[in-house]
Amino acid sequence: MIPQSFLQDLLNRVDIVEVVGRYVQLKKGGANFMGLCPFHNEKSPSFTVSPTKQFYHCFGCGAHGTAIGFLMEHTGLSFVEAVNDLARNIGMTVPQEGGTAGHAGPRGHAVALTDVMTRACDYYRQQLRGALSAIEYLKGRGLSGQIAAHFGLGYAPEGWQNLEAVFERYQDDTLLEAGLVIDSEKTDAQGRNRRYDRFRHRIMFPIRNTKGQVIAFGGRVLGAGEPKYLNSPETPLFSKGSELYGLFEARAAIRDAGFVLVVEGYMDVVALAQLGFPNAVATLGTACTPIHVQKLLRQTDEIVFSFDGDAAGRRAARRALEACLPHASDNRTLKFLFLPVEHDPDSFVREFGAEAFSAEIAKALPLSQFLLNEVLHDKELHQPEGRARALFEAKPLLQALPANALRAQIVHALAERVGSPLDEVTRLCGLDAGKPAWDRAPAKREKRRVQGQAHRALQNLLMYPRLGNELSADDIQVLASTSYAELFGEVLSHCREMGAQAEFRYLSDRLRDSENAASYEDLFKEILSMDENVRDLLLYDPDDALQAERAEEQWRLRLAELRAAVRKLHYDSVCDRLEQMFKRGTLSPDEMTEAAALTRQRAVLKQQLA
Ligand code: GTP
Ligand code: MN
Repeated sequence: MIPQSFLQDLLNRVDIVEVVGRYVQLKKGGANFMGLCPFHNEKSPSFTVSPTKQFYHCFGCGAHGTAIGFLMEHTGLSFVEAVNDLARNIGMTVPQEGGTAGHAGPRGHAVALTDVMTRACDYYRQQLRGALSAIEYLKGRGLSGQIAAHFGLGYAPEGWQNLEAVFERYQDDTLLEAGLVIDSEKTDAQGRNRRYDRFRHRIMFPIRNTKGQVIAFGGRVLGAGEPKYLNSPETPLFSKGSELYGLFEARAAIRDAGFVLVVEGYMDVVALAQLGFPNAVATLGTACTPIHVQKLLRQTDEIVFSFDGDAAGRRAARRALEACLPHASDNRTLKFLFLPVEHDPDSFVREFGAEAFSAEIAKALPLSQFLLNEVLHDKELHQPEGRARALFEAKPLLQALPANALRAQIVHALAERVGSPLDEVTRLCGLDAGKPAWDRAPAKREKRRVQGQAHRALQNLLMYPRLGNELSADDIQVLASTSYAELFGEVLSHCREMGAQAEFRYLSDRLRDSENAASYEDLFKEILSMDENVRDLLLYDPDDALQAERAEEQWRLRLAELRAAVRKLHYDSVCDRLEQMFKRGTLSPDEMTEAAALTRQRAVLKQQLA
């Protein structure tokens, strides 16, 4: 179970506009953002995202939720997966079952680390202004001040402990954990390890996450020297297998261009941005991973990888191909571009110009062709051994592809090239196995229409789940004896888990995974189509005192409503029971006593109801 306090911290730090914006083109309209609903077909936008309420809602189809709910609905992730995904993106660690990490823990920590990184970044930027040698170097590489500012480039001066002047406590563990300093083996007079700055006399490239927070640095020597680039180590904020340099800066351009260009170096990204390709990002001196690919595919359906024409570039391309395979769906375009040996994108554009580079992009190899080249290029296809070898090498690659039209096409082409019948290739490569995972999702229950007083009770609980914690044991017993016991039980257990922080928007996310999700959906839609004032209060901003007060008032009103509904349900069940007894006529002495008690109860309830 993930503590509610963590979920709230997470949602406070995640920008829902950014999360939704990865998939939906949003335009600002007043306080909200609007776009075409991704969950139903529409021509004019009825899908709204509210950054202050951290909630999305489609007036057309009723889709709604927080950033967690959006990821669940849009990508099919489970509640826990969606939470993990969001947390990973902003460097938070999800506390595990019964974890004590709770409130201040992970959040406070991640915040402390990002603060430290931001301050270091500001310091490096400010140092660049007065550093002639660094400015000279950047100018010499053809970069403008404007582009340097756009990427937040900075300079770490010479000297071993410059950051001592930046932070009050240079000995703070946070600096070490952020990777800004290194503790040497040598100790000082007090027996402490001597500490020094990791980055010295280097051009600093801040690496930002998709929210724009600085999570790491890459530092380049000015001119020659080893190592040429020095990166931040892996930290709680930064994992180079999942981050891409320049992604934050390139987001809008990727959307405009309709594709992302993946290159190998920091300098390539910065130089390309200046020379007319602002949609470029780079892996951080590592091979491209499936996480990188997934991250990019959240922003666009087309990726063009650019590699140097040498052997190292070829190897890197092969790794990228493998990372792409699981994501190669029919609606996506994945391409591979090989530059002439001795060139990287930066040097290529500077030598041949932007148009020549655009032409290279246009000529990039589609994934299918690159894959076929990889398995066929050095085989003696006129020999059975060569053809068998090609099939052998193709097998794992084909198996990694989703079973779609693209795979079928590649298998066709391969069968032709090795001169084997199609079904033989399919069989040899083991491609006729079971259904893909998404076809095997567990069946959800049929929708149940909740009616009468149970509807009234459930509706109020969904609107103000904090009410669930106000019910007495008797009240809960009443709900548990209705024919909707399962729904009430499920909702009440979520209310308990969320405790004092229980709120409509969180409950709506939590119930999305339920087997009974379909039954709740109608109720949620009804609630969201209520009067605007009612809706606003459900999603009120707790920092807005006036709204908070009105929400409190509304809450008391709803509590009265809920109690009335429970009482009526109770009254009805007492009446039912009595009626059954009287219908039978003869009663045992015990039943007589029960009937008398029930009659008294009925009288009391009737009075309360009136
Ligand atoms: P310039 O020489 O400044 O044009 O850099 P580049 O971006 O063209 O670098 P290069 O093609 O040599 O390397 C590509 C990427 O690999 C760099 O951007 C770094 O991320 C990484 N890289 C290169 N050299 C080193 C190194 O010495 N150490 C580490 N950790 N990474 C490196
Ligand atoms: Mn270069």
